[in-house]
Amino acid sequence: MKLFVTGVEGYIGCLLAPFLTARGHEVVGFDTGYYRDGWLFSDRTLVPDFPRTINGDIREIHPEHLRGVDAIVHMAELSNDPLGENDPELTFQINHQASVRLAELAKAAGVKRFVYTSSCSVYGVADGAEPMTEPSPVSPQTAYAKCKTLVERDVSAMASPEFSPTFLRNATAYGASPRMRFDISEQPVRRRCDHPKDRNDQRRHAVAAAGARAGHLRGDCLCTRSAAGSRPRRSIQRGP
Ligand SMILES: NC(=O)c1ccc[n+]([C@@H]2O[C@H](COP(=O)([O-])OP(=O)(O)OC[C@H]3O[C@@H](n4cnc5c(N)ncnc54)[C@H](O)[C@@H]3O)[C@@H](O)[C@H]2O)c1
Repeated sequence: MKLFVTGVEGYIGCLLAPFLTARGHEVVGFDTGYYRDGWLFSDRTLVPDFPRTINGDIREIHPEHLRGVDAIVHMAELSNDPLGENDPELTFQINHQASVRLAELAKAAGVKRFVYTSSCSVYGVADGAEPMTEPSPVSPQTAYAKCKTLVERDVSAMASPEFSPTFLRNATAYGASPRMRFDISEQPVRRRCDHPKDRNDQRRHAVAAAGARAGHLRGDCLCTRSAAGSRPRRSIQRGP
C-alpha cells in the first residue's frame, strides 16, 4: 500500500514510519519539521531508514500530494493541551479545519482509509470508577481535546463504502523516541522513571502498531473507533 503519513517527524511518527516501511508499505511523509532540530539519538534498529518526506503545512495540502495514495495516517497537529491553549484559534485552524479538509481531499482523491490519531482526552474529566469506552459521552476540556472531538464528528460523517475513517483514542504514549518532546511536560519523564524500560517500549510500540493495524481495516469496518487507551485519567490531561 502507498501510505501518506502526516506528522512523520514527531514523537510517534518517526517510529511509525519505519515500522510501516519494514512491513512492505511505500511511505510518504508530510511534516512542517517544527521539531526537526530535536533529534535525540540514532538507533538503527528502531529507525533503519526514514521515508521521503514532504516539507509542508497541512493547511496547504494540495490534491497532488495524495495522488495514488491508498491510506492516510494523520498525526500532524499541535499535539497536546498546553500547546493548544497557547493559541486556541490557531489550534482550531490546524487541528480541526485542516484535518477535516485533508479528509475531504482524501475522499475526493479516492483514498480509501483515513486513520486519525485522536486522544482519550476527548473524555475530559471522568467521574465514575468504570473505564470509559467507545460509547461513553465525551467532555473535551481544552482546545486540543475539542478539536479531536470535532474531527471525529466531521470526518465520521464522511464515511462511505469507498472511504473508511478510523479514530484511535490513544492514551498518552511514553518511552524513548528519537523525537522526544521534552517541551511538553515533565509527566512522561516521571512516568518513565516509574516503569521498567521494557514496559515503556511496549506502550510506545503498541500505539505505532495500532496505527498500522488500523490502516489494514477492511472496507466494511466503517467508522471503527478504537479506544486503544487504558483507563482515562480523572483529571484533565496535561500531556498529549
Ligand atoms: N504522544 C501521545 O501520547 C499521544 C496520545 C494521544 C494522541 N496523540 C496524537 O498523535 C499524534 C502524534 O503525536 P506526537 O506525540 O507524535 O506529536 P508530536 O508533536 O511529537 O508530532 C507532531 C508532528 O506534526 C508536525 N506538525 C504540527 N503541525 C503541523 C502542520 N500544521 N502541518 C504539518 N505538520 C505539522 C510537527 O512538526 C511534528 O513533527 C498527534 O495528533 C497527537 O495529538 C498523541
